[in-house]
Amino acid sequence: MSAGLLRNSFKEAASAASFVPTLLDQLPNAIVVFEVETKELVYVNPAAESSLDLSRKSLEGQSLFDLFSDNLPLNRMVEEVRMGGISAQRQELVIHSLPGSIHQESVQAHVVVAMLENPRLMMMEWFPIDQQLRSERDERVTQQVEANKQLMRNLAHEIKNPLGGIRGAAQLLEFELPDKGLYEYTQVIIKESDRLQTLVDRLLAPHRKAHVIESFNVHETLERVRSLVLAEFPHGLRIIRNYDTSLPNMLGDQEQLIQAVLNIAHNAAQALSEEIRSGVAQIEFRTRIARSVTISKQRYKLALDLHVIDNGPGIPEDISERIFFPLVSGREGGSGLGLTLAQTFVQQHQGFIACESRSGYTDFHIQIPYRTQEKVA
Ligand SMILES: Nc1ncnc2c1ncn2[C@@H]1O[C@H](COP(=O)(O)OP(=O)(O)OP(=O)(O)O)[C@@H](O)[C@H]1O
Ligand SMILES: [Mg+2]
Repeated sequence: MSAGLLRNSFKEAASAASFVPTLLDQLPNAIVVFEVETKELVYVNPAAESSLDLSRKSLEGQSLFDLFSDNLPLNRMVEEVRMGGISAQRQELVIHSLPGSIHQESVQAHVVVAMLENPRLMMMEWFPIDQQLRSERDERVTQQVEANKQLMRNLAHEIKNPLGGIRGAAQLLEFELPDKGLYEYTQVIIKESDRLQTLVDRLLAPHRKAHVIESFNVHETLERVRSLVLAEFPHGLRIIRNYDTSLPNMLGDQEQLIQAVLNIAHNAAQALSEEIRSGVAQIEFRTRIARSVTISKQRYKLALDLHVIDNGPGIPEDISERIFFPLVSGREGGSGLGLTLAQTFVQQHQGFIACESRSGYTDFHIQIPYRTQEKVA
């Protein structure tokens, strides 16, 4: 039976069972309805499209089992509901990625499989548990970032105030020194003061600049980052553009977002030194649109989904839980501020930033809601 016919038969069944697809269209949980015999999908709601990262058109007519790549526990659940005449089963399952989908990860989800009133149809509903966990984690992170910000600001001011005095006094002292051989010591004071000044300026950066809120094209932002990174790493590094060109313009502080993505991409390029040497280093900029996302308990209709993925060695394990904390660095000479600043800038746009990393694959994922009003903190 073709997908069109199936859809018609589903519509008949749906109206007979007073089952209203438009209502399901609005539910936040992912729902698919499928034929009991063939397991072919006859209906996919927008939340399922978004969860699977595939369009309704490409999904309808596919088999449920093709979709979830031979997921044995899921097969078992479907069969038990079908054979046992049980009306519904619920279970926590890992849903694997699907062929053709952009998401390559597995998702831990709460899954419900149920018979519908029409005995030819069954439905499957799922809700990623990650989402709930993430929402709780986001909130914790937001509080942490706020505390960090205060601490950094106070600390930076405490250091900044005497710093000018120390440097000035060292310079005066240098004029008075009878022996040029002693300049070495005053120069150490001056150089170290300058280094601290740069650090303090970075610490204060998110607090100092007035936000410039404007409408901008995300890909232009990424292109700027791309050329900056390639200017510094001209050989042996590929930066792949994987753009969804239909993304609408964003409202926000473009300079801040350039800085955030630059810090992330810069880290990736620095981590890729081995791969750059052997000519296989690559960073991917991937943009997509995300629908119905929840960030810090706020629900947004549309969000920018941005991944910066590299094929480097991965985040060193001993710091992987703390990379967004200030002054945490796994790099010789690193000040450990790049990611803290990136996180602050993204959060000032109500977004979140997370990282998944293993050897050969590090993915920094940024989500920023599309705002229609000027509401950047
Ligand atoms: N893509 C990546 N691959 C491997 N390790 C990474 C990657 N991104 C970050 N890291 C690790 O996280 C640490 C923290 O990064 P962060 O940008 O905050 O500080 P930094 O790069 O050390 O110093 P700064 O950016 O302030 O100059 C890095 O030192 C590095 O060890
Ligand atoms: Mg860095």
